[in-house]
Amino acid sequence: MAILLILNFVGNGFPPIIRNNARPIIYTILSLTFLILLKLWTSGRSNPAERPLHGKVVLLTGGTSGIGAQTALQLAQRGAQLVLLTQSPDSDPFLVEYIQDLRERTNNNLIYAEQVNLADFHSIRKFATKWIDNAPPRRLDMVILCAATLTPPGGKRKESEEGIEETWMVNFLGNFHLLAILSPALRVQPIDRDVRIIIPTCSAYIGSPSLKQELTKQNWSPGKAYARSKLAMNVFGQAFQKHLDVYKRPDGGIMNTRVIFVDPGLARTPSTRRWLTRGSLWGLGLYLVGYIFPWFLLKSPSMAAQSILYAAMDGNLGRLPGGKLIKECMEVDFARGEVKDEEVAKKLWEESDALIEKVEKAQAKRRATEKARDEAKAQQQKAQEALAAKKKKEQEQKDEVQGLVDAIKKGKEQEKQKAAKTKKKTKAK
Ligand SMILES: NC(=O)c1ccc[n+]([C@@H]2O[C@H](COP(=O)([O-])OP(=O)(O)OC[C@H]3O[C@@H](n4cnc5c(N)ncnc54)[C@H](OP(=O)(O)O)[C@@H]3O)[C@@H](O)[C@H]2O)c1
Repeated sequence: MAILLILNFVGNGFPPIIRNNARPIIYTILSLTFLILLKLWTSGRSNPAERPLHGKVVLLTGGTSGIGAQTALQLAQRGAQLVLLTQSPDSDPFLVEYIQDLRERTNNNLIYAEQVNLADFHSIRKFATKWIDNAPPRRLDMVILCAATLTPPGGKRKESEEGIEETWMVNFLGNFHLLAILSPALRVQPIDRDVRIIIPTCSAYIGSPSLKQELTKQNWSPGKAYARSKLAMNVFGQAFQKHLDVYKRPDGGIMNTRVIFVDPGLARTPSTRRWLTRGSLWGLGLYLVGYIFPWFLLKSPSMAAQSILYAAMDGNLGRLPGGKLIKECMEVDFARGEVKDEEVAKKLWEESDALIEKVEKAQAKRRATEKARDEAKAQQQKAQEALAAKKKKEQEQKDEVQGLVDAIKKGKEQEKQKAAKTKKKTKAK
């Protein structure tokens, strides 16, 4: 049929309808080709790597939304055992339903949740110490740190109870604390195990203010805070790789845990939507009306997860030294020299350590005071209850005695009346 059509065109030329509208037809074909190529380009590369994940244990933060949720889905489909570290408790009905759904969709029952609120050092410590205290040490193949937060442009600076700016706390300090506590659990993994720590970063780090300068309340902005937290994670991740590499394994082997950074590219996730809409209703309205633009220009969360999956499964990344950056499923270089600046890393590590220690001490003191206050309150209440019970018992005893006295009195009265009646009767006789 197609051949006949072509032969007809060659013999007789294009039909008049095509000849008369040649220009619009050519423009339409060119425009459609351009749009299809643009969409293919903005969608990014698909992950070409695979490796068996059955039996592998993966800790994943941010696995309930956006890129993290797609990563969780893909890893679970390949049989990995997932522990989702979520800020809500594992009893949260949304989370229970989410995990149930994920188990059914992937036919994988090995998906669990543990509460780890990255905005709370105590919550992180509770989980991580429980994990490392396990004897024998638990298997751990991957830690993927997808959780992050951002304040939309024009939004207000928020602080945790301890006065730490929220973006810095969740995107950097929380992850720093988690990896620092989990470090022994990573180092203890058998030599033949390929262990990976995957840190999703964002090209926003390139424009971040230097970590050498403090981000004060006065010069704070949502963009600077987000970019700086991502730069700090890159610097810390490099330093963490060195911290692992210098460890002398008791078996004399080389370090088998590698930090891999991933730039997933811009994607249509809740955080990007919040950023584009400035977290406002009118912004959301505009976003929905003009949805064709984000659809064309941004990746789907599933395509954004491709480089993370590549970092999780590519064979070479498990053999080469750690600290690599992956973008579009390829190794690329960091675009900021500061990422590998050892002085900056040392200062960042020491300051973060000191801050966490100070805050944890203050938190422990506060918890102890609260516990003592609660115990004192409970004791006071117990004492009050005991006193009330004693008083009640005494009153009951008094009432019982009074009842007895009244009964005796009544009896005597009745006897008296009886005696008086008998006397009267005898007199009358
Ligand atoms: N989207 C992009 O265009 C883009 C571009 C470059 C890099 N990245 C990076 O890719 C990663 C994933 O981004 P995304 O856009 O997919 O994010 P997202 O959809 O906004 O999801 C963020 C996740 O972080 C979790 N989270 C937030 N605060 C938390 C806390 N205090 N404790 C524990 N978990 C917390 C959220 O949990 P809840 O659901 O419970 O709130 C959610 O699961 C991030 O590291 C981001 O910086 C994204």
